[in-house]
Amino acid sequence: MPNEGSYGVALERSRRVEAGLKDHPEKYVMLTGDRPTGRLHLGHYFGTLRGRVELQNLGVRTNVLIADYQVITDRDTTEHIQDNVYNMVMDYLACGIDPDKTMIYCHSAVPACNQLMLPFLSLVSEAELQRNPTVKAEMEASGHELTGLLLTYPVHQACDILFCKGNVVPVGRDQLPHIEITRQIARRFNKRYGKVFPEVDALLSDTPLLPGLDGRKMSKSYGNAVSISMTAEETAKRIKKSQTDGERKITFDPENRPGISGLLSTAAICTGRSEAEIADEIGDAGAGALKKYVTNAVNEYFAPIRERRHQYENDLDYVKDVLHEGNRKANELAEATLAEVHEAMGMTY
Ligand code: TRP
Repeated sequence: MPNEGSYGVALERSRRVEAGLKDHPEKYVMLTGDRPTGRLHLGHYFGTLRGRVELQNLGVRTNVLIADYQVITDRDTTEHIQDNVYNMVMDYLACGIDPDKTMIYCHSAVPACNQLMLPFLSLVSEAELQRNPTVKAEMEASGHELTGLLLTYPVHQACDILFCKGNVVPVGRDQLPHIEITRQIARRFNKRYGKVFPEVDALLSDTPLLPGLDGRKMSKSYGNAVSISMTAEETAKRIKKSQTDGERKITFDPENRPGISGLLSTAAICTGRSEAEIADEIGDAGAGALKKYVTNAVNEYFAPIRERRHQYENDLDYVKDVLHEGNRKANELAEATLAEVHEAMGMTY
């Protein structure tokens, strides 16, 4: 049997799901989520938010999780968590996630979902948990020892996906090990106790990962990201400060000119033009002209999104209502699934 965890296989499965989604959106339940550790940025927007809105509008049942318990997998503080969660809801709404169509909720508000963790933990071995490459990488990056939560959070992620019978999970490549363990857990549960859970697939994006303004991986901690929530002025400032090089003529060369190329990629994705075309147009006008072009491109693209966001910033009560309603629905779903799980396991008294 081929290695199901391998990227090629996942990609092939993802392509098949993609075709199925267009023909039979009603057969799919999407679940994906974000850790509320800060504001969402352009990488999130083009990498996943835009795609979620498309699925939502295709008529797929869509669920978006604010993964608050995952915040403490690799850090020992929950500082600013409430503010981050509310702002994440604002980012979602501003980007077009419609709370009448998409359930927006957070981990900590759904006890029955978290309770799935107990039977699920019994279905995986310590060795499987230990060899998860994403967990290893996160442990190394955190500089902490491996906590019980960091080791087991992929199982918690299986709870996130399976409590709502999710079968399609839009994620980046780094999340594939978690999808694989989710699939194993669903299969093993069904085999042991009877069919309750669906077969799960990752939905991998075709859009190449948008690099940060300096060409490195876009990350808040590198200061190379433009947040959706920034003002036009803050955006201009961030772009102006980004690192370029001494060569005047603008060319697209990600390998040797990461700064210039990161800027070009940002402009390209916002305008729908190619990097090479923009580079040719700017030519000898240099990095200053490129930065102006990028700033305009970003600010123009995000103007309507930011305008909507302002409305939500000024209506926190509405934002809270959206989350409370999502949490209420999530609890309903989670309780129904947990009841099925108990029934399948014979734990009905
Ligand atoms: N682990 C994901 C991340 O770090 C967030 C997440 C939590 C998630 N639960 C999920 C993603 C369930 C997809 C499905 O970005």
